Amino acid sequence: MKREQWGSRFGFIMAAAGSAVGLGNIWKFPYLAGTQGGGAFLAVYLVFMATIGAALIMAEIAIGRSAKKNPVGAFRLLGGGLWSVTGMIGVITGFLILSYYSVVGGWTVAYLLKSVAGTIETTKPDLLEAQFSGLVSAVLEPILYHGVFMVLTIGIVIAGVAQGIERSVKILMPLLFILLIVLVVRSVTLPGAWEGIEFFLVPDWSQVNGEMLRAALGQAFFSLSLGMGAMITYGSYLDKGADIPNASCWVVFLAALVGVLGGLLVLPAVFAFGMDPGAGPGLTFITLPAVFGEMIGGYLFQVIFFAMLLIAALTSSISLLAIPVAYFAEEYGIERKWSAIVVGIVIFLIGIPCSLALGIWGEYKLFGMNFFDLMVYAVDYYTLPIGGILTSLFAGWVVLEKMRKELSNDGSLTFRWIGAFTWIMRIVAPLAVTWVMLSALFGERLAAIWVMLSGLLWN
Ligand code: PHE
Repeated sequence: MKREQWGSRFGFIMAAAGSAVGLGNIWKFPYLAGTQGGGAFLAVYLVFMATIGAALIMAEIAIGRSAKKNPVGAFRLLGGGLWSVTGMIGVITGFLILSYYSVVGGWTVAYLLKSVAGTIETTKPDLLEAQFSGLVSAVLEPILYHGVFMVLTIGIVIAGVAQGIERSVKILMPLLFILLIVLVVRSVTLPGAWEGIEFFLVPDWSQVNGEMLRAALGQAFFSLSLGMGAMITYGSYLDKGADIPNASCWVVFLAALVGVLGGLLVLPAVFAFGMDPGAGPGLTFITLPAVFGEMIGGYLFQVIFFAMLLIAALTSSISLLAIPVAYFAEEYGIERKWSAIVVGIVIFLIGIPCSLALGIWGEYKLFGMNFFDLMVYAVDYYTLPIGGILTSLFAGWVVLEKMRKELSNDGSLTFRWIGAFTWIMRIVAPLAVTWVMLSALFGERLAAIWVMLSGLLWN
């Protein structure tokens, strides 16, 4: 069977940007910026995006296009059996992320339907908070919506790469941008918005610490869909003529832009309505309806916004599901359709305890975290950074020649940044990610050991 391909360069960029731009940028980024010190977090995040992020996305797309295989097959083909473990980490991470991502995707389905029904029209923070926590802590309702979200995801993936994924993102992504900009204009012109703009854009460097660096790096990876094979999978459907560095820069730019717009949408509103920027995961769902409540035509904007959020979530979730689907289809010959359905059902089942963890199963904890937080933590702290370190070592040391060829299309394009790329892949990215990971995990203990040692020396 002939391997599927993207129909156009624009289609690929939209699909890759669609994977990158998602709940991570509009839902997670604003609340992370809110809890991690605002402007300084933004600055650090942008630096990570422009350096390690940009280089790694090029590497992943190049690995995919060079091998024309799913991540496990790609690492095996290019680097030998042991390297396929890196691809395996990616496939597993796809399961982990999608199981909680789809729960949040379900909330967007719920909010879309409620907006259409006109049942969230208020600017009162208490009411909005009660409504949100009522939804996520319920038993059946969020699971039902999580199921709806998974069915939509499975449907698009079954329809195929060009017919399903590409066709939908080419319309949905431009729409998303237009809408975001309109909404940001409203948010930043709310009375009292200035404080939020300042909080988000003006860095207070005293906020930089190990935990924040880790969060910013994790977010850079997450928001570019890196470290887990999504871009390898999408790159594998890319034709030989496409300019990978150029396409990658577009994706980084668009993902960063949506993050910034997401922050400018949510945080000014938070301050304007006197809410708490450190409120966490509920932030977007609680503050935005308040913004709409203040707008002329708010009903319409609210409906469109939640439709867009759902779209952003879907264009990412399909890329998550596409990884295991490509893996099972190519490694075990399971038909695309069936692997999408079976994998989708398994992910739906893992998502159930994630959802219940925010309600009736909240008191069951492992390592001090409920199941939902545990999934987020495992991905952000372990699987994405480890996947990223291995991928960059692979690109920099094992297949650098292949990377050179792919990034310059066998010499027919000039890729001016190859020197920087090589350095980042070989040394900067592996060291920086390892350091950030260890300092976040062992920061206090390392400091304690240091104090002890210096005490011993002193005596
Ligand atoms: N990048 C997506 C987002 O920001 C999430 C994602 C991560 C998608 C990893 C695919 C792979 O929402």
